[in-house]
Amino acid sequence: MSEAIEYERIGDIAVLAANNPPVNALGVDVRRGLLAGVERAEAEGAKAVLIYGKGRTYFAGADIREFGKPPQDPWLPELCARIEASPLLVVSSIHGTALGGGLEVALSTHYRIAVPSAKVGLPEVHLGILPGAGGTQRLPRVAGTEAALDMITSGRHVRADEALKLGVIDRVAEGDPREIGLAYVQELLDSGAERRPVSEMPAPAPVDFDAVYEQVLKKGRGQISPATAVRAVQAACEAESFDAGMQRERELFMELMNSDQRKGLIHAFFAERAVGKLPELKGVEPRMLHQIGVIGGGTMGAGIATAALLSGLQVVMLEMSPEAAHAAKERIAGNLGGALKRGKLSQAQFDEIMENELTLATGYGALSNVDLVIEAVFEDMDVKKQVFTQLDAVCKQGAVLASNTSYLDINEIAAVTKRPQDVLGLHFFSPAHVMKLLEVVVADKTAPEVVATGFALGHRLKKVCVRAGVCDGFIGNRILSTYRTCADHMILDGASPYQIDKALTDFGFAMGPFAVADLAGLDIGWAVRKRKRAEGLDPRARDSNYADKLCEAGHFGQKTGKGYYIYEAGKRGGVPNPEVMPLIEAERAEKGITPREFTDEEIVRRYMASMVNEAARVVGEGIARRPLDVDVTLIYGYGFPRYRGGPMKWADLQGLPGLLADIKEWAKEDDYFWQPAPLLEQLVAEGRCFDDLNKEAS
Ligand code: CAA
Repeated sequence: MSEAIEYERIGDIAVLAANNPPVNALGVDVRRGLLAGVERAEAEGAKAVLIYGKGRTYFAGADIREFGKPPQDPWLPELCARIEASPLLVVSSIHGTALGGGLEVALSTHYRIAVPSAKVGLPEVHLGILPGAGGTQRLPRVAGTEAALDMITSGRHVRADEALKLGVIDRVAEGDPREIGLAYVQELLDSGAERRPVSEMPAPAPVDFDAVYEQVLKKGRGQISPATAVRAVQAACEAESFDAGMQRERELFMELMNSDQRKGLIHAFFAERAVGKLPELKGVEPRMLHQIGVIGGGTMGAGIATAALLSGLQVVMLEMSPEAAHAAKERIAGNLGGALKRGKLSQAQFDEIMENELTLATGYGALSNVDLVIEAVFEDMDVKKQVFTQLDAVCKQGAVLASNTSYLDINEIAAVTKRPQDVLGLHFFSPAHVMKLLEVVVADKTAPEVVATGFALGHRLKKVCVRAGVCDGFIGNRILSTYRTCADHMILDGASPYQIDKALTDFGFAMGPFAVADLAGLDIGWAVRKRKRAEGLDPRARDSNYADKLCEAGHFGQKTGKGYYIYEAGKRGGVPNPEVMPLIEAERAEKGITPREFTDEEIVRRYMASMVNEAARVVGEGIARRPLDVDVTLIYGYGFPRYRGGPMKWADLQGLPGLLADIKEWAKEDDYFWQPAPLLEQLVAEGRCFDDLNKEAS
């Protein structure tokens, strides 16, 4: 027997217990153990088999680390068929999660019992594949076609009570999975219950599959796995036999398994788990946090305070005047009201937070006892320095002092205090109670336990935390500023903001860069451009002014109703603003540029190459530890399509030599902007890719 499956005999029942921590993934040892266990139970004359998982869960799915490697026997579909075909009564007892291949094993057993906290689901589409061990054929037979389509195309986790209603499980019972499983099997044996192979159930009723396919394809914004899964469910309804349906499922599964989207999504899965693991923080204890301070109650500060309050922290919100404090309180109440409406908070919790957990203040003295403070005041170095000087004077020893700056130098900010070891950047993304990304910016003197505290706070706030070094814009905004410049160059040379936005949303971005700028506020980019011009631009840099003219006319994007687009109240999205193209044409004329055509393909290629090239610099300089840190930053903070795995994974899949060749070609027209990053040149010269650096760092 394999060690991953423990075999035990209790009277007529053979008990197979999975013991493959942490999540009982169905790796080759587990599959072999299950097969051997069923065979042994049959050979020993048992009447029934109970399958359950030790530790925190039933099987959480196939072992994702085996994907893309040569398959090892038995394959999961064969194992499921063998379990289902056993002449013994086979029962699953589920706790934790039965996901993907885990649910497929459960569906190949004849009965299923689960504890109330269990969840089941077929989340394969999130990994770029579809259920490949009979899930698309068995689930519709037990739950009906519509419910199966919903579960398989959304990949959502379904709670035990709903799974019971859908017929995915047969019973819910409190207790230990082994004990409730044994009692259930005994009851089934005593009542003479028959085996119940799902594959022998009638084919499910068809629906309008073409319509569902189109709908799912559109919703996926270019992601193909959910729509492909629709075709597999269709086969469950329409194929001549269960086996023919399985055959179709296999073909579609293999198509997806070989796709770049599968590679991208699996990279994203492991990358988002790797970002939080920093060797230098191993064994470093974060400082305790009970109460935090937030300075500035604008959109950003109120969002940070909301996230902290929702996580159970007490918050002291500091504003400049009673009126501003009142406005901040209203903003926070509005944010929490949203959580109340969505059922994430009860009325009693809402009242408790507003009355007892949130304190409004107008004087720095109120921060004397907080464990950590985050300033979210105006983005200006002098203002930040004043704030940190005051914090240094009033905060208790050991308090962590954080700046939410998006661009400014944390070393310079830390230097005004007598405790630079306690200072770091915590760069949230707006709205901070919604956006998942947090850049933890580590300055030269930041102490390891302060970094650990930044990560601990981020995790408590349910953020994906990425470590960043100090530079203008850290990881995300520095790269953004480069690809935005690339977009501006294409505008000057002949593309329109609308063509660029469309080309990039077709590529899979949630929004194009100009729609994003409208959302963030055009005044933000304007302030950055003014600052950079004041610091002195390189004479070789191509600057442009059409965006400044929009701002000068008072158009700051969505908040003023007009920017690159015009926004009407109550309508989602905007329509192109007719004032924009004349501004661009005037600037082209002023600069003597004859506009040329851009294909969507060229727009994407240039935009992505500029992003990857800057990202390679960011990694080369150690601002991001590994390429995967860039990938996670762009996916979670900048709407980068997850199914492409992030810009570095995209670049690897494209091939770095081709990308470098393009950059060198474009350098012939602008050798300042298109300077190849040294790391990119080095990797190409060595025949390596970004993922090699991820592997070396893990
Ligand atoms: N294979 C391999 N490793 C896995 C895994 C899997 N299916 N699921 C989780 N892990 C690993 C994680 O990488 C992590 O490893 P490290 O500690 O080394 O980082 C560890 O298990 C714990 O995972 P989490 O940190 O995510 O733990 P959690 O408690 O927050 O979440 C979970 C648990 C809900 C099961 C979550 O891990 C999850 O969603 N896993 C993926 C489930 C899934 O997608 N299953 C379907 C697989 S595809 C399939 O089954 C295809 C098929 O039909 C053939």
